[in-house]
Amino acid sequence: MKKEITLQDKTFVPFLDKEKINKEIARIAQEINRDYKGKKPLLVGILNGSILFFSDLLKQIDIECEVAFLRVSSYKGTETTGNVKKILGLDKNIENTDVIIVEDIVDTGITLENIIQDLSSNHPQSLKVVTLLFKPKAYTKNYPIDYVGFEVGNEFLVGFGLDYNEIGRNLDELYIIKEPMLNIILFGPPGAGKGTQSELIQEKFNLTHLSTGDMFRFHMKNDTDLGKKAKEYMEAGNLVPDQLVIDMIDAKLSESHDTKGFIFDGFPRTTDQALALDELLSKKGWGISKMVSLEVDEDELVKRLLLRGKDSGRKDDQDESIIRNRMAVYNNETAPLKDFYANQGKQIGVDGIGTVEEINGRINSAIS
Ligand code: IMP
Ligand code: MG
Repeated sequence: MKKEITLQDKTFVPFLDKEKINKEIARIAQEINRDYKGKKPLLVGILNGSILFFSDLLKQIDIECEVAFLRVSSYKGTETTGNVKKILGLDKNIENTDVIIVEDIVDTGITLENIIQDLSSNHPQSLKVVTLLFKPKAYTKNYPIDYVGFEVGNEFLVGFGLDYNEIGRNLDELYIIKEPMLNIILFGPPGAGKGTQSELIQEKFNLTHLSTGDMFRFHMKNDTDLGKKAKEYMEAGNLVPDQLVIDMIDAKLSESHDTKGFIFDGFPRTTDQALALDELLSKKGWGISKMVSLEVDEDELVKRLLLRGKDSGRKDDQDESIIRNRMAVYNNETAPLKDFYANQGKQIGVDGIGTVEEINGRINSAIS
């Protein structure tokens, strides 16, 4: 299969190859041959989507049968319109006939309901449904689907008869839409509110929150090898060596499947880390979408951190000289990253003074 295909404005990646599709079609054909032995079913293909499935299935039906077609339309782009149009009706009398509806995909079931009601009113002997693909999470009806090739998620599929705006039907395998990832770096000096804001953005945009600080604190608390190594650096207000951070991020990225994206909080902190992150992401076909830098002046930050130190007991938040050292480290090593992302056109500055909601509103409009 091609690694990636583009149809108009959308990109699709491999989903089901020929071998897998053929295997399920063969299974369904066997079941129909068995269930309809001695009968003479009428297979009603629903155009246009079911063409390839219909013909592959039909080739493996070895009992006597007839075929007919119905043409309906309900989709526009990647959304169902909920409005089913019958474009071509059945030209056969189905009274006392064993009818099998052959669909490519059942999504909400609105199309199917229309077809079932239409056919039922003509008094078939029996009426069953076979579909190559079924989206159970999207299905809103109660009609049983008698034969299913694959149960799939709600993601939009194309190929093997299924189209995106009428193209892609000729692909002989199935592809799934590739949703662009939203990978955000939330950037700013210690005390700027990265943690609080990350939580909010994570929820709103359904992202995975990666806080290197939290990860290291977790390792320190559990006294892991990584925790022991990180401890001396962190408690002095210095940066943990790049390689340690990068390996930890790499492990996290690899274990997070099915995410809509990541929010990086407190990482990258050096240009080397930023380069390493780009490399890690690009290996997976991903990239950074935006870098949001929270802007707060230093005296306000020191005030906030000392307050947080009292509440949380975090050692690095309790001593003004350690805090000032973190600010100096930030200004020397981390602040230059703004230029790094600005040069890629990805950096957006956000005023970090105000209520949590106010700041959150500014961040949301910066990244949406
Ligand atoms: P339903 O009425 O919501 O069940 O939609 C059924 C029709 O929507 C199918 O016959 C397809 O034409 C179309 N459809 C649903 N999901 C997809 C998809 O993932 N790719 C392409 N077409 C789809
Ligand atoms: Mg269809």
